Amino acid sequence: MALKNINPTTTDSWRKLTNHFNDIKNINIKDLMKHENRKENFSLEFNDLEVDFSKNRITKETIDLLVELAKEVGLKEAIESQFLGEEINVTEGRAVLHTALRSTSDDPVYIDGKNIKPQIQSALRKIKSFSNKVISGKWKGYTGKSITDIVNIGIGGSDLGPDMIVESLQFYKNQLTTHFVSNIDGDHVSEVIKKLNPETTLFVIVSKTFTTQETITNSETIKNWFLKSATIFDIPKHFVAVSTNLVAVDNFGIDKNNVFPMWNWVGGRFSLWSAVGLSISLSVGFDNYKALLEGAEEMDMHYRNENFDKNMPVILALISIWYNNFYLAETEAVLPYSQYLKKLPDYLQQAIMESNGKGVDRNGETIDYQTGTIVWGSTGTNMQHAFMQLVHQGTKLIPADFIGYKESLYGLTDHHKKLMANYHGQIAALAFGKSKEEVHLELKFSGDQDKIAKLLPFKVFEGNRPSNSILFDKLTPHSLGKLIALYEHKIYTQGILWNIYSYDQFGVELGKELAKKLLNTH
Ligand code: F6P
Repeated sequence: MALKNINPTTTDSWRKLTNHFNDIKNINIKDLMKHENRKENFSLEFNDLEVDFSKNRITKETIDLLVELAKEVGLKEAIESQFLGEEINVTEGRAVLHTALRSTSDDPVYIDGKNIKPQIQSALRKIKSFSNKVISGKWKGYTGKSITDIVNIGIGGSDLGPDMIVESLQFYKNQLTTHFVSNIDGDHVSEVIKKLNPETTLFVIVSKTFTTQETITNSETIKNWFLKSATIFDIPKHFVAVSTNLVAVDNFGIDKNNVFPMWNWVGGRFSLWSAVGLSISLSVGFDNYKALLEGAEEMDMHYRNENFDKNMPVILALISIWYNNFYLAETEAVLPYSQYLKKLPDYLQQAIMESNGKGVDRNGETIDYQTGTIVWGSTGTNMQHAFMQLVHQGTKLIPADFIGYKESLYGLTDHHKKLMANYHGQIAALAFGKSKEEVHLELKFSGDQDKIAKLLPFKVFEGNRPSNSILFDKLTPHSLGKLIALYEHKIYTQGILWNIYSYDQFGVELGKELAKKLLNTH
């Protein structure tokens, strides 16, 4: 079943949403929060996760109309098409099946008449057995020593996902030290190399195409460095690859037994669930890697089966569209209150902006409404001492996602209490602000009457700044998988509503081509 091809702004529900927006655009979150059961009616729970979206400029009617829009543009059918492996990446003629990578069900998924589940299972077995050998020390380098360091060489989806997950799951890490080399900037690879011993380092070259300039250049540089102390016969013990391009991998000199598969039906930025995640399994062990996949699968089933008004990725996508297309907010902040998640905003920038940064619709027509949001962020509480001033008192409307955990991993309860007090404090400050009257009273009681006239306007927080709270019990591989899948499905939902293709990325090509031309002419 082909994706529907509807300009959302021409639908009945969009017209209703426009009228509704005109009616409620000056609504205040503070007033909305006074309604009985506001929090209960505007939050969703799903095992260890609670999404509270009560502090938004929305009413029940807003959600109803947005859900109507989702139905009108065929979101339900689009979700099914994705899960069933239909060619929804039309411009590249591919299915999009990162969900199949984490599926534990026996239901077959067919590509060109062939069930792909057995290949996925076989890749997982290979990842497991290889990870076990390296972690246990049974895999030896060319001088008979066990591996101590892993280097993931890749860029974009072949770097950001594994890097972010390894960083986020540091608590679960084993004795191996994992490094990531991505930039074509030779100083990046040089800084990594200087920490390595060739005898005990394993290089994982991750490139779906195995033609990416950065990855191939970095891999060649590393191979040359390695060959200063070893021979080409030692390469199989130290270099493995994850790729679809077996010929190029072979030309590089990698043993065919050391190649882990990638498939065209997995997009680069959605590939950490495939063997692209090998460095994750090496760093935290296969069981933790599997738990990550299982968490994602839990979210997949929720997304596929839950009604839209109870569906976390759908609700977050719809609220984001509400701000992007009606309030014309340009950006969204992602604010994890966990230092472990410091790389999440970078990862989400690729996932979201490479997917939905499109100005042409599924008809090939230029779009005259806003699509892809700009996403940015950093961890709390650090960012409170950096950019939050602008979010609280600046002139821009910046909807924010707060991500938090009820429990900390090391159990320093005093720290965690303070961390979460800040989490809730920021959300409340954004939503409720501080009125002139409150500031007036505060200054009056501080005893300095002069200050009232001088400082009052500067100390007012107008509030009414929206946010979602995404709160898990604890940061585990399972809950992390769920979180990432939540954002993945939000992306696709928005792409469907905006009538764009989320899974191609032609916009990255021109700059690459011009760089190549420049290299050839100089
Ligand atoms: O820069 C765009 C891109 O194609 C990404 O989508 C992809 O994740 C990255 O380059 C790396 O590609 P490859 O895995 O083929 O080296």
